[in-house]
Amino acid sequence: MAVLFSPFTLRDVTFKNRIAVSPMSQYRAAGGHANDWHTVHLGRFALGGAGLVYAEATAVEADGRRTHGDLGLWDDAQVAGLQPITAFLEREGAVPGIQLGHAGRKASERRPWHGETPVDAEDEAERDEAPWTAIAPSAVPYADGWPTPAEMTEDDIARVVAAFGDAARRSAEAGFKVIEVYAAHGFLVHQFLSPIANRREDRWGGSMENRRRFAVEVARSIRRHWPERYPLAFRLSATDWVDGGIEVEETVDVAAALKAEGVDMIDCSSGGIGGQGDRNRPRRMTLAQGFQVPFAARVRDGADMAAMAVGFLWDAKVCEDLLAAGQADMVALARELLDNPNWPQHAAAELGLNGDFGLWPIESGWWLQKRDRLSRKLGLR
Ligand SMILES: Cc1cc2nc3c(=O)[nH]c(=O)nc-3n(C[C@H](O)[C@H](O)[C@H](O)COP(=O)(O)O)c2cc1C
Repeated sequence: MAVLFSPFTLRDVTFKNRIAVSPMSQYRAAGGHANDWHTVHLGRFALGGAGLVYAEATAVEADGRRTHGDLGLWDDAQVAGLQPITAFLEREGAVPGIQLGHAGRKASERRPWHGETPVDAEDEAERDEAPWTAIAPSAVPYADGWPTPAEMTEDDIARVVAAFGDAARRSAEAGFKVIEVYAAHGFLVHQFLSPIANRREDRWGGSMENRRRFAVEVARSIRRHWPERYPLAFRLSATDWVDGGIEVEETVDVAAALKAEGVDMIDCSSGGIGGQGDRNRPRRMTLAQGFQVPFAARVRDGADMAAMAVGFLWDAKVCEDLLAAGQADMVALARELLDNPNWPQHAAAELGLNGDFGLWPIESGWWLQKRDRLSRKLGLR
């Protein structure tokens, strides 16, 4: 039995396999509301056989959106658009998860294909998309040419922490069974964690205990509103890949502190904090298949909690081997699944399962098996 296709349980939620669809922003929402695009985008991954399907980064307040197209859960009215999506995912055997976040100093950004640069008057003229002022732990811009964010006051901090809790309540109402907090890639929670973005001298900055206070408060706020029986995960940038930034050892401590607040799993990514002037990849960052897997292994061992490996994973055997070696409990894939939403079905075949196409929805599997039998009989393939 392949580990990749063995069930995994966190709290009262069981995933039928270890494959998660990594959160992927679509920038297709209007006013934060989900629509048919999100249903089809996410639904195809459930049909493709993933055990956990994460909806994209979803803003807990309107100004916490990265772009005008981000999903949101800052308003009760945004729940209804998500309900048919979670119902469909569950009916088709996938656990629906959502990533909750706040962009902090990376808010008011253009969509990737519009340049991933700050929104300005041009966007307002062309698309009626006006810029807004971002907030952050410190008044330090993300990169050269970016506006200086407003330093968050104690009231701002309390408001955003509470907004995470309210969004968690709405996530449950929308039918999600897993929440992942977006505490990576240079967004607000990561901005508090990293000394590159956090220059505060009060109880929210300085020592690691202070810098992680915001993440801990967010976890507490969510746990107050999120059912005990459902898992809570955090996506962390295990390292900033920048001297003076977060290193993996610190991430293990953050994970342990979050575990004490009822966090069940860490999704181990890296990078994105900026602070080097330009937006180029940090020089220390070397890309390779599964290059972030060692971070998952380190967190899993060091904090004694479940870990998800992500990033440059596409090979079924590599995923199987890393799970079998105990480096992670789940794997998350993004671009490979965009290329082939049926990747889990093919991965199962590659690992010697699914020979009868039995893991496919019967509406596909029945035909694929019939074609397979016929083409073999005729010696066609
Ligand atoms: C279209 C797209 C949108 C993404 N949006 C998010 C997001 O909303 N939240 C997040 O944590 N990561 C996001 N990412 C990063 C992925 O979740 C993933 O960590 C990254 O792509 C590496 O995995 P991969 O090599 O399998 O693509 C996005 C990636 C892609 C390709």
